[in-house]
Amino acid sequence: MVKKNVDGWRKRAKYGADASAGVSGSLPLPFPREMGHNTMNYLKEVVDSGLTSDMISRFEERFAREMGVKHCVATPGCTPALAVLAAAFDFDPGDEIIVSSVTDFGTVQGLISQNYIPVFADTEPGTLIINSETIQPCISDRTRAILVVHKTGTICDMDAINELAGKHDLIVYEDVCQATFGEYKGRYAGSLALAGGFSFDSEKTMGSDIGGCVVTNDDELNEKMRFVGHSRGGQMLDGFGRLHMVNGFAHRMPMCTAAVSLAQLEIIKPNVAQRDKMIRILSEKLDSIPGISTPPIPEYMNVYSCWMAGFSIDLEVFDCSSDTFAQEVLDAGIPGAGLGRYYLIPAALPFLSQKAEKNIFPYSMPPASRSYVYDGDSCPNAQEFLETYIRWSSFCERYTAEDCDIAANIVASVAEKYRR
Ligand SMILES: Cc1ncc(COP(=O)(O)O)c(C=O)c1O
Repeated sequence: MVKKNVDGWRKRAKYGADASAGVSGSLPLPFPREMGHNTMNYLKEVVDSGLTSDMISRFEERFAREMGVKHCVATPGCTPALAVLAAAFDFDPGDEIIVSSVTDFGTVQGLISQNYIPVFADTEPGTLIINSETIQPCISDRTRAILVVHKTGTICDMDAINELAGKHDLIVYEDVCQATFGEYKGRYAGSLALAGGFSFDSEKTMGSDIGGCVVTNDDELNEKMRFVGHSRGGQMLDGFGRLHMVNGFAHRMPMCTAAVSLAQLEIIKPNVAQRDKMIRILSEKLDSIPGISTPPIPEYMNVYSCWMAGFSIDLEVFDCSSDTFAQEVLDAGIPGAGLGRYYLIPAALPFLSQKAEKNIFPYSMPPASRSYVYDGDSCPNAQEFLETYIRWSSFCERYTAEDCDIAANIVASVAEKYRR
C-alpha cells in the first residue's frame, strides 16, 4: 500500500525547462536554447535509419575526443551516469564515499542506492567547493572514494585532492554537471581523476534533452560500466542466453538525445568561452559594490565554464535579510534570483537522515562503522555561506558586457536601498 502524501506529491520538484517556466526579467534567459546547426540533420538520420543509426557511438567518440580522454559512456543523465559508476566500483555496503556538501541530489542518488554511505565534506570557507583540507577529517578506514563537485563551474583544486587520495589509496571521481569544458591548469574538468560524470539536461551548459555520460581513461572501468550500466549486468552464456551477474541497469542514452547532444557538442566551446568571459566581467563589477562579494575564481582555473552566477551579501552592511535582498533583486529584473539553501545536501535528505537515525541498513552496525548524522550543522562553512549567497542559474552564454552592467546595476541599486 502506497502511503498517501498527496499534497507533498503535488509540490514535486521541477527540472529542465519546466523549472524555468515563468522565469523572466531584464536579462537573457537560457530558454529557448540555442540548438546546434546539425540538430535536425542528426535527428533525421536517426529516423531515416529506422533506429539503426550509430548516433550513440558517434556522440561517445566525439565527446571523448573533444575531452581528450579515451572513453565516453553515454547515459540518460548524470544521475544515472553516477549510479552506473557507483555500481561499477563494486564497494561493499556500508563503505563510505566522501562527497561535497553543496550539490544536487543527482550526485548521491546512485551511491545511496548501492548502500554506500555518503559522508559530506564541508566547503572551503567563502566558497561552494570542497578541498583537501575539508576532505581530510572525513577519511576513515571505511572510506573508499571521494566524489568532488565543481559547483557553479568552479573546479576543485584537484592536484591537492588527488595527492591526499593517493596517500589513503582512495578513488577520486568528479561530478562535472556544472563545469562542462571548464579548464583546470589547461586540462578539462572531468579528466582530472579516475572518471567524470556529465549532465546534458536541457538547463545545463551543454543543454540537450536529458542526456549525460561518464568519461574515463580506464579501459577496465569503461568495459565494466557498459556491462553494468548498459547491458543490465547480463552476460551471454552459450546454449542459455542472458545470465545476470550483477543487478545492472539499462541506462543507455536514447538515440535522439545522442543526435541532439552531438549537435550541441559542435557549438559548445565558443559558448563556454563566452560564459568564461562574461562571468569574469560580471564578478569584477559585483565585487566593486561595497558589501557584495563573489566567490573567488581560482587562478588555476583557466576557463570558468560558469553555469550559475551569484554573490554574497554582508549582513553587517545591509539593513535587511538575505531573503529580502534576493526578492528585491528578483523583482528588479534578475531572472530566477534567490537563495539556494537546499544545495546544502546533508540538510536536504530527510529520508536518509531518518534511515541513519533509526540504524536501518546500511546504517545498522555492521556494516556501518559508526553513527551518522545528516544536517546542516555538520557542514558549518557551507551552511553559513548559503545563508547569504544569492544566485541565479539562468546565467547563460547569451550574456553580453551590457547585460553584466544591467545585472550589476540592479544589485547596486538594491544595495544602496538597504545600506546601513
Ligand atoms: C551538480 C549536479 N550533479 C548532478 C546533477 C544531476 O544531473 P541530471 O539531471 O543530468 O541527472 C545535477 C543536475 O542538476 C547537478 O547540478
